Amino acid sequence: MEISGAGAMIVGGASGMARATAERLRQKGARIAIVDLPTSEGEVVATSLDGTFHPLDVTDEPGVERTVPEVVEALGGLHIAVNTAGGGLAARTITRDGPHPLDSFRRVIDLNLVATFNLNRLQAWHMSQNEPDDDGERGVIINTSSIAAFEGQIGQVAYTAAKAAIAGMTLTMARDLGGVGVRVSSIAPSLFATGLTKGIPDEVTEVLTRDAAFPKRAGRPDEYAILAVAIVESAMLNGSCIRLDGGQRFAPR
Ligand SMILES: NC(=O)c1ccc[n+]([C@@H]2O[C@H](COP(=O)([O-])OP(=O)(O)OC[C@H]3O[C@@H](n4cnc5c(N)ncnc54)[C@H](O)[C@@H]3O)[C@@H](O)[C@H]2O)c1
Repeated sequence: MEISGAGAMIVGGASGMARATAERLRQKGARIAIVDLPTSEGEVVATSLDGTFHPLDVTDEPGVERTVPEVVEALGGLHIAVNTAGGGLAARTITRDGPHPLDSFRRVIDLNLVATFNLNRLQAWHMSQNEPDDDGERGVIINTSSIAAFEGQIGQVAYTAAKAAIAGMTLTMARDLGGVGVRVSSIAPSLFATGLTKGIPDEVTEVLTRDAAFPKRAGRPDEYAILAVAIVESAMLNGSCIRLDGGQRFAPR
């Protein structure tokens, strides 16, 4: 898809990987709408990219229903959607004190999975209303999984379930939406140096990245953005969850 002139909705765009993606898309001529928490830096980031800011907690279902059409209107059409809002918690299936609390499991699923799908179904609907380009393409959706979807790390059960579901629904949605020329991909990063991980001390980052093939360091937000731009530009990238991990494989803990 041609990025210049396209409308891009960047959810989680006030920080980290989504912010870097918004910056790269803007450099290539996209119109940008940043969606993020009201308490985030969204307004500042949006202004710096000549875009609009739409404050939203993605777990607020009616809020999402209200915000997506507002974004589409502000952009004058939605062609690119990048969704990164998410996060996890560390808890094992059982501990000495008892079983994993079900409410916190559900919260992680709601934030990462249900909210992503809620955005996707609305984003896809609006994209399906676009005029197709010469290739028949109407839109591209990029979701954010994690290598935690595949690595089975101890204490990650809720996060793994949510991120594996994002990976799993990628091909299904791509097939659902192929008929209207909308592509769906997901990116599964390893440890990236973003707002989410800024509290992790350097020595812990070193341990967490020492099993990578190369480079043995946390990823940089722009390295996610480079892949996101490639996904938008190459029509053949569709239906896959792409690992972005320097060859990292985690041990159980
Ligand atoms: N950083 C990593 O190591 C890493 C690795 C794998 C996957 N991920 C995934 O990447 C995403 C986080 O992106 P990041 O690492 O660039 O972090 P980040 O904290 O820099 O950016 C995430 C943005 O999402 C926003 N956000 C969080 N919850 C929200 C909500 N409920 N509603 C609206 N906005 C919300 C935050 O305000 C923030 O601006 C998550 O989905 C996370 O699971 C991160």
